[in-house]
Amino acid sequence: MSGFQIRVPATSANLGPGFDSVGIALSKFVTLDCQPGEDWFFSVPVEDQPYIPSGKSNLIYKTALQTAEAFGYETLPPTHVELTNDVPIARGLGSSSTAVVGGIELADQLLNLKLTKYDKFKIACEIEGHPDNVGPAIYGGIMVSNYDGDHLDYVHFTEGLDGLTWLAIVPSYHLETEKARGLLPTEIDYKQAVNNSGSANVLIAALATKDWVLAGKMMKSDRWHQPYRQALIPGFSDVTEALEYEGSLGHYISGAGPTMVAVFDEWSAAKESRLKGVLPSYLVEPLQVHLTGAETFQKKMC
Ligand code: HSE
Repeated sequence: MSGFQIRVPATSANLGPGFDSVGIALSKFVTLDCQPGEDWFFSVPVEDQPYIPSGKSNLIYKTALQTAEAFGYETLPPTHVELTNDVPIARGLGSSSTAVVGGIELADQLLNLKLTKYDKFKIACEIEGHPDNVGPAIYGGIMVSNYDGDHLDYVHFTEGLDGLTWLAIVPSYHLETEKARGLLPTEIDYKQAVNNSGSANVLIAALATKDWVLAGKMMKSDRWHQPYRQALIPGFSDVTEALEYEGSLGHYISGAGPTMVAVFDEWSAAKESRLKGVLPSYLVEPLQVHLTGAETFQKKMC
């Protein structure tokens, strides 16, 4: 085996009412530089070492092995994987799905499985349980998907998205998805569900027809999860006020939070500087859509 590099984008899920179904790939990346090794080893950036193991308990390895086993292999060739991580952990930007998608790509490369994107998507959904982060991490752009544990359907679209700025407002604290999901109700009133589903439908139609103003309005209209989760994000109303002052079209809790993402059709260095000034405890980072999804590059032999 010669060396190769896998690059997986960050993702932002839900976009408001598209709960567990909609996500977008953004311009932040995890890269895996892979070389044959004596044994499995993940070289992890120092700041991530408290959260990402370097041995076989690493989620990337576990996913790669699970993928291999699904195709009848019992082991994987030992590999040294050097991780470079630009995706903050447990902040709602798809860090766990970068590991799942990275692991599937890794098994595909090491065993020459020749998986299609859809094969990878299906495996990733089986592991992750819902498609909203893993879909765009594999395909890029926006993915609208439904997975019921058996059937997996999706629509992929990219048109016009690169004209927008997707501004990530990242708090300094972690929020575990399990905790943020634990706050959600187990049942919802029928009439409310119909209304929520209507908001999601209009969100998708607005994104597909590039009606960004309406899409932004729908992001804010979500009642599936955001009202419950705001309790875990104490700065939500201050961030809302600052974003609205700067003319964001809409914003939402990214995935399970605590990151918030705002959409702008007009962006400027002056807006960035003002927002950084009024939100000093957050990382304020303008991002773009990433259109291609996870990729593998073969390394040239010297
Ligand atoms: N749709 C998921 C959620 C994303 O909001 O909980 C995080 O896994």
